[in-house]
Amino acid sequence: MTMDKKDAFDRIRQLKETLNYHNHCYYVLDSPEVSDAEYDRLMRELQAIESEFPELVAPDSPTQRVGAPPLDSFGTVEHAMPMLSLQNAMNADELREFDKRIKRFLKIDKDIGYVAEPKMDGLAVELTYEKGRLSIGSTRGDGFRGENVTLNLKTVKAIPLTLRTPANRKMPEKLDIRGEVFLALEPFNNLNKEREKSGEAVFANPRNAAAGSLRQLNSKVTAKRPLDIYCYGLGDTRGITFESHWESLQTLKGYGIKINPLIKSCANIEEAARYFEEMAEQRNALPYEIDGVVIKVNDLKLQAELGEISRSPRWAIAVKFPPVQENTTIIDIFASVGRTGALTPVAKLEPVKVGGVIVSRATLHNQDEVDRKDVRVGDTVVIQRAGDVIPEVVAVIKSKRPPESQAYRLPQNCPVCGGQVIKEEAFLRCINSSCPAQVKEWIKHFGGKNGMDIDGLGFKHIEQMVERGLIQNPADLYHLTKEDILTLERFAEKSAQNIVHAIEKSRKTTLPRIIYSLGIRNVGIQTARVLAEEFGNIDNLKEAKEDRLIEIRDIGPEVAGSITDFFKEKNNLALIDKLISGGVTYERAEKVEGGKFEGKTFVLTGTLESYSRSDAKALIEAEGGKVSGSVSKKTDYVVAGVDPGSKYEKAVELGVKVLSEEEFKGIMAGD
Ligand code: IVH
Repeated sequence: MTMDKKDAFDRIRQLKETLNYHNHCYYVLDSPEVSDAEYDRLMRELQAIESEFPELVAPDSPTQRVGAPPLDSFGTVEHAMPMLSLQNAMNADELREFDKRIKRFLKIDKDIGYVAEPKMDGLAVELTYEKGRLSIGSTRGDGFRGENVTLNLKTVKAIPLTLRTPANRKMPEKLDIRGEVFLALEPFNNLNKEREKSGEAVFANPRNAAAGSLRQLNSKVTAKRPLDIYCYGLGDTRGITFESHWESLQTLKGYGIKINPLIKSCANIEEAARYFEEMAEQRNALPYEIDGVVIKVNDLKLQAELGEISRSPRWAIAVKFPPVQENTTIIDIFASVGRTGALTPVAKLEPVKVGGVIVSRATLHNQDEVDRKDVRVGDTVVIQRAGDVIPEVVAVIKSKRPPESQAYRLPQNCPVCGGQVIKEEAFLRCINSSCPAQVKEWIKHFGGKNGMDIDGLGFKHIEQMVERGLIQNPADLYHLTKEDILTLERFAEKSAQNIVHAIEKSRKTTLPRIIYSLGIRNVGIQTARVLAEEFGNIDNLKEAKEDRLIEIRDIGPEVAGSITDFFKEKNNLALIDKLISGGVTYERAEKVEGGKFEGKTFVLTGTLESYSRSDAKALIEAEGGKVSGSVSKKTDYVVAGVDPGSKYEKAVELGVKVLSEEEFKGIMAGD
């Protein structure tokens, strides 16, 4: 190209403007004005000029949305104003109660105006625009501090890198815009189809897929996932003020920010209640998942007066929908064999869309559950999917049962290796430790995220490696060559090289990861961390006696027994030798960096319904927090379950933040 720098500069500016305009039409307004081919042509022209004049590439150029080199970790971002959570209501009557509470608080009895919004089921983010330019994008994190995911958010096409300037208005100094990043149903189902084909684990729901995509250290991966966003509010702002929430949303729309067109202004609570009912009807027809509606007081003065209580605003409420249920038929019931040999009955279903997500399997948990619900092959059943949960069979429609149907019983031998099964409480268990099903699941666990973290080692690869006799246990991975891998189906030079490289990279690891990856029963990542801290190396752990183990906090007789049993097995000792001879080295401990509870001290009190004490503790510690036995001024949070007692009173007395179990769960889930 023969162009001088001045011409290049001008043309780049023109192209940038045109492309940003079309980008807005396509991704924000959903109404493209040019063909894809024309858009691509303009983009290629811009790329060509920029590659000739790299010094003219602006950070907000439309070409810069393809992702950047991978990061080692995310930095943290402090939110200028905390990102709160929402109180919940389960139905329209509870919503009416909310309206009454507000009126009582404000001591008024005239109608209150609300803004009603779909509650997007994705991941909350904050976008900081300084003088109209996107400078930082962060996740919600613990509400005070989130992760810096700017590079990833810049790949989301619906997020403008520069705000549009409406006529006669100056760009505000600073705008912190909050919204929900999500993956629509169609791209979600496509992504899962692709992952299934390549043997990668599928995402349970669009929210997990969106969260997984946004928290990628490699923004090039994020760039390939068609993430979308709807914004719903503001945090800190400088240089602009509003009178109502509705007005702020309209203004943001003018700046080119994507606002859900289904958001509605309601004159009073009855209109808001109607909105909830209408959305409940519409929800299955939407191209994305919503899990309820959010109702917000419109007047910002009233909002300020209402303030907040235990980290939720008094002026807003989420009204949740019940879980989505559908009917389908059971094609087959089979037993799946897990890592520890447990046989789980799984129903193979006539595929059905449950709230837009295609479901073809449901867990039946164990034989007792099968008996209790009397689930049979050929039955028409009601299945349900709620948030994260694996789809499950809720009930059998007995009137539709085919006459010849028979009760299902788990097999008396392992369906994979034919070996003996024994009954352990509600579960049947295959006790052959070289059962191929167990070995495959073990290797999957071994190479997984909390384990040796072998990037790109999918289950299909593992299946082939085991079936072809290339590996019999996880340690064999460290003795594989590229030539071995090339003998497998669907591997070419490059992909084989990638796996070899990922295995190589995993050789240098930490002690907790090794302990976890061994797959000792009852030893999760948190116990592995405690053991690593306590014993310092594998040899010491190998020698540990049961009574010594029991002395360690968090380790009871059952866990201690699993550990000593594991190291009694000759095969397991040989496996460890083989790992070391395969070049695996480790550091004693790993720091939990960037955990959402880093530096925070918790006290647990009362009975928690969803977690055992030790689970809750493990979850907090896994996020870098500490759990202490007594409340003091240094305590950051008290999590109060049912019947909390004196620790709760002490917390109130000292002004320590008290979280309900619901709130704690919300924070854990990243709400
Ligand atoms: S407003 C103080 N509006 O729900 C108000 N939240 O539990 C904070 N969410 O973390 C949020 N759609 O991730 C608001 N239209 C909407 C929403 C919404 C989804 C999520 C958001 C937040 C969580 C609150």
